[in-house]
Amino acid sequence: MEKTLEALKPLHIPVMVDEAMELLNVQRDGIYIDGTLGLGGHAAEILKRLGEGGRLIGIDKDDEALKYAANRLEDSRVSYVRDDFSRLGQIAMDSGVSGVDGILLDLGMSMNQVKDMGRGFSFNSEYRLDMRMDNRSPLTAWEVVNRYKMDKIEEILREYGEEPKSAKIAKAIVSERKHAAIDTCRDLSLLVERQYGGRGKTHPATKTFQALRIFVNGELTALQGALEASVGALRCGGRLCVISYHSLEDRCVKNFFKQAKGVFNVLTPKPITPTAIEARRNNPAARSAKLRGGQRL
Ligand SMILES: C[S@@+](CC[C@H](N)C(=O)[O-])C[C@H]1O[C@@H](n2cnc3c(N)ncnc32)[C@H](O)[C@@H]1O
Repeated sequence: MEKTLEALKPLHIPVMVDEAMELLNVQRDGIYIDGTLGLGGHAAEILKRLGEGGRLIGIDKDDEALKYAANRLEDSRVSYVRDDFSRLGQIAMDSGVSGVDGILLDLGMSMNQVKDMGRGFSFNSEYRLDMRMDNRSPLTAWEVVNRYKMDKIEEILREYGEEPKSAKIAKAIVSERKHAAIDTCRDLSLLVERQYGGRGKTHPATKTFQALRIFVNGELTALQGALEASVGALRCGGRLCVISYHSLEDRCVKNFFKQAKGVFNVLTPKPITPTAIEARRNNPAARSAKLRGGQRL
């Protein structure tokens, strides 16, 4: 059943807004891409700085997020595109744009996605393991956990979660699913908890859930694709700003800027992190955020 916009309250608090806007350096008549429109928090700030002749292309692969943002922003300067941000070069061309002045990527998922139990991202959800940002995609976390071979599950947990107990958890998954399918997020988080013999400060299933989410959504491949596409999409002087939330993403952005010497002037020799005030606010996402940016030469 389709959710009403009333049910889609903006639980997501945008991260490092002032810092991202300063780095993006929005020009009044510029053309911008928000590759991760989400609930439109950063987009609203870009629009405040854009004049009447400016334009914003808002991309998200989550249909619910796009609908929410369109309703919230209600702005004729915005076009909404349901697609993967790795295709941002093609999307700009399809929109009749030959070069953009800035691209913002605020990676990962929104609090609305996490807190919507039916989306199957959350440890405590009694719903089926899912974790897809794009519900048209055929691969769910349930498929991976219940159908993939042990070696592949182990590799996913190790590579995308940097999970030290990847082998133990993969073995337990394969053993448990012989009796009954591991259906819900809660089934899986309890299984991981048992491998750790209890809970610590952070939930023991954090790395397992991160790994599955990254794999199911092809997150690192999409990020690499978007970074590469930005080279062709940005005008000279245009800016690329990326907010990442874990070390795998940040490494990818950092290495891209390192290898793109001569193509980008790196504006953040060290990543910008949230102020102590923002990190203390009730916004858990902000704690691990890192912002990097570069200017197209
Ligand atoms: C952290 S949220 C963005 C929040 C947004 N900046 C705001 O202020 O409301 C990330 C969003 O990016 C979307 N997303 C993640 N990976 C994507 C991809 N490869 N292509 C398109 N959208 C993606 C998610 O669906 C989610 O809505």
